[in-house]
Amino acid sequence: MRVVLGVGGGIAAYKAAELVRALEKRGHQVQVVMTAAAQQFVQPLTFAALSGQKVITGLFAGATSSEDTLSSAVEHIGVAQDYDVLVVAPATADLLAKFANGIADDFLTTLYLAFTGPVVLAPAMNSNMWNHAATQRNLSVLRERGHSFADPEDGWLACGTTGPGRLAEPDRIAELVGRFAQTKHDLEGEHILITAGPTQEPLDPVRYITNRSSGKMGYALANAAVARGALVTLVSGPVSLPVPLGVTAIHVRTAVEMRDAVMSCLEDSSIIIKAAAVADYYLSAVPHRKMKKTAARLPLELDPTPDILAEVGQKKGGRMLIGFAAETDHLIDEARRKMVTKNCDMVVANLVGQEGTGFEADLNEVTILTRAGETIHAGPAEKSEIAERILDQILRLRLTLRAIGETA
Ligand SMILES: Cc1cc2nc3c(=O)[nH]c(=O)nc-3n(C[C@H](O)[C@H](O)[C@H](O)COP(=O)(O)O)c2cc1C
Repeated sequence: MRVVLGVGGGIAAYKAAELVRALEKRGHQVQVVMTAAAQQFVQPLTFAALSGQKVITGLFAGATSSEDTLSSAVEHIGVAQDYDVLVVAPATADLLAKFANGIADDFLTTLYLAFTGPVVLAPAMNSNMWNHAATQRNLSVLRERGHSFADPEDGWLACGTTGPGRLAEPDRIAELVGRFAQTKHDLEGEHILITAGPTQEPLDPVRYITNRSSGKMGYALANAAVARGALVTLVSGPVSLPVPLGVTAIHVRTAVEMRDAVMSCLEDSSIIIKAAAVADYYLSAVPHRKMKKTAARLPLELDPTPDILAEVGQKKGGRMLIGFAAETDHLIDEARRKMVTKNCDMVVANLVGQEGTGFEADLNEVTILTRAGETIHAGPAEKSEIAERILDQILRLRLTLRAIGETA
């Protein structure tokens, strides 16, 4: 794949050199573009030596120190047409602001406007710059535009503080870029909302009820969907998994929080996959103080949590809704009942309570039931493989429903 790497003027510019190596190791051809500020941090010669290509350092021939780099007067248009992916690392606060607002005052920002392929942004900056309302607004504009993000990591920053802002590891950025080399881009244009993990329902300030869901199935789905070109929002309960690169995550704790997050994203979604194991009951009036142990029994009166799947089923309109049914008994009957009562287009049923597959495991075995009356068995296989099969079936079902005149 042909990758154009834009290097911004941040302290992490030197790490872009490692990124060139990581991209080349994966077989990609890299053309480096440096902003004027980037050249204050690293010499173009470093990138030229690593990439084996002249580095583009300016928009106008003669305007920069490397005036011989431009092979045509409209090189930015040529590069925009010739390359498959544009990755910007480090994407400084300044570059994010220019991209968000369409400012084109140097080669990289002009190339960005002329480029029609996938864009991967790896921001890096001081935590206060990252958290600033202006940067956050620019980020949401760029995420909305469908760009993929290698979000910065938490850690020690060059400015001597700690917090979010450190450039993602070059290998992780290269992995994200590599996804665009995938031949299957059949989910481009889709905005998929995925829920994952358990919920925690507090009993007092220190105790809660939860379940054994690890979130692995939902995270595998998010990972597979983003690799196939979808814009993915992941509403996740408390799990110990890293958010897949390129996925926008909303972290929640309780069923009520999950319901609110799902409803706020519903309008923008074309497909909703509810893989989370949401608690069925919760304590509606949580005491403010820790309950004391006494010799007496502890009666607990729990209320049903909001039925998120049913509410989405009522409000989904033309969107596709996929539910999960995790059962220990009468799996298929329960899954069919769920499909009808919750107005789902597909239910992925998995037997839980057995060793090796289901909750917490890396493998899964599922039965996929569709509104068109199909029953498809998948697994036992890695959850990443099961995720691909589920996405295949979602696309296939949509074609079937359209063919039989049902709009989904
Ligand atoms: C020593 C130093 C380090 C800097 N590091 C960063 C940084 O990590 N991230 C950032 O957004 N800006 C950083 N800046 C500010 C940018 O260099 C400045 O906003 C510049 O205009 C960005 O240019 P660009 O649009 O070419 O990236 C730094 C500035 C200096 C002097």
